Amino acid sequence: MIIRKMIPSDVAAIAELEKVCFSDPWSADSIAYELVNPLSYWLVAELDGIVAGYVGSQSVLDAADMMNIAVAPNYRKRGIGQALVNALTDYLSKNNVIALLLEVRVSNGPAISMYEKLGFQQVGKRPNYYRNPREDALILRKELRK
Ligand SMILES: CC(C)(COP(=O)(O)OP(=O)(O)OC[C@H]1O[C@@H](n2cnc3c(N)ncnc32)[C@H](O)[C@@H]1OP(=O)(O)O)[C@@H](O)C(=O)NCCC(=O)NCCS
Repeated sequence: MIIRKMIPSDVAAIAELEKVCFSDPWSADSIAYELVNPLSYWLVAELDGIVAGYVGSQSVLDAADMMNIAVAPNYRKRGIGQALVNALTDYLSKNNVIALLLEVRVSNGPAISMYEKLGFQQVGKRPNYYRNPREDALILRKELRK
């Protein structure tokens, strides 16, 4: 497996994974815009020449938000999600970002387990943050300063 920056030819595969993994998926156009957004940094996990997963972030000053992360269903539970988050936090901390924040559905056990394992802590809750279905979000934060 290699983890590398997202390139234009990844957009279609990421948009397909969005549809498979989320009830409110990002469009291909929104994903493509992240390639030119100077605040954005997206990584792809490539396995057997296939986009098996991705993570996207946006940074403002010294704080970053994880916008999205997903691993294709048939590639889950083999460390790819964890490797993507670790690669992202390595890059951000080297670029003077001190904290990474994210939202996650309160019912999303696998993702919450992964974030807890990686040292994220709950700092708040956003009621009714999600639609399809409507659900609260937990706000999680990881300190990146060494
Ligand atoms: C969340 C997601 C990205 C995890 O990716 P993954 O590659 O399967 O995760 P990893 O194999 O790296 O697992 C890392 C840790 O996460 C936890 N974890 C992952 N899947 C889990 C599951 N199904 N149940 C419980 N814990 C799980 C475990 O602690 C695991 O560590 P371990 O292998 O030592 O037990 C993946 O399940 C996914 O794409 N889900 C759908 C999209 C999504 O919900 N994204 C998050 C939006 S906030």
